[in-house]
Amino acid sequence: MDRVIVLYSSKYGATRKYARWLAEELECRAVETKKASLEQVREHDTIILGGGVYASGIAGIRFLKRNYPHLREKKIIVFAVGASPHEENAISALRERNLKGPLSGLPLCYCRGALDEGAMTWLDRTLCKMLKKMAAKKDPAIYEPWERALVEAGPSHDWTEREQIQPILDHLRA
Ligand SMILES: Cc1cc2nc3c(=O)[nH]c(=O)nc-3n(C[C@H](O)[C@H](O)[C@H](O)COP(=O)(O)O)c2cc1C
Repeated sequence: MDRVIVLYSSKYGATRKYARWLAEELECRAVETKKASLEQVREHDTIILGGGVYASGIAGIRFLKRNYPHLREKKIIVFAVGASPHEENAISALRERNLKGPLSGLPLCYCRGALDEGAMTWLDRTLCKMLKKMAAKKDPAIYEPWERALVEAGPSHDWTEREQIQPILDHLRA
């Protein structure tokens, strides 16, 4: 395998867990995106960038947007970690929202994360509770994937599994 680096942005730990599993599997480093410099990243042939999903945005994607002109020769794979189930419409919405313009051709993989109200900041917990209340008033048949996940999760749920990194490894080896 060429030189690979895993960059990750994780507020509550699920993305960090996936980044560490990838680093173990690929025998490479996993570095927090906010601590990575362009110079350091450019030393690698392959960049795997992962971020937690918050209000439909992939954390850390700005690093790629800002630096893409210097990285376009590299093999780049993006992975998002959210609470929504693995559903095609949820993944295409993430792609449309986050991978625009020059980033639109990049592969996007999805791994399911975790929700733990007890670990959240006051603001995040309040937001999640508010969204849950709003969802509870809707017909479950028209829930968005993210709303369904919130309602199903209860106060805490962990969907992380090591096997979910497999599609990322498959992209790398393709
Ligand atoms: C304020 C907030 C907003 C969120 N928004 C979304 C969302 O839009 N879509 C989604 O699938 N998951 C959403 N989630 C769930 C997170 O993506 C999930 O907790 C994930 O594990 C976060 O990654 P991390 O554990 O690495 O921080 C949200 C969570 C919080 C706290």
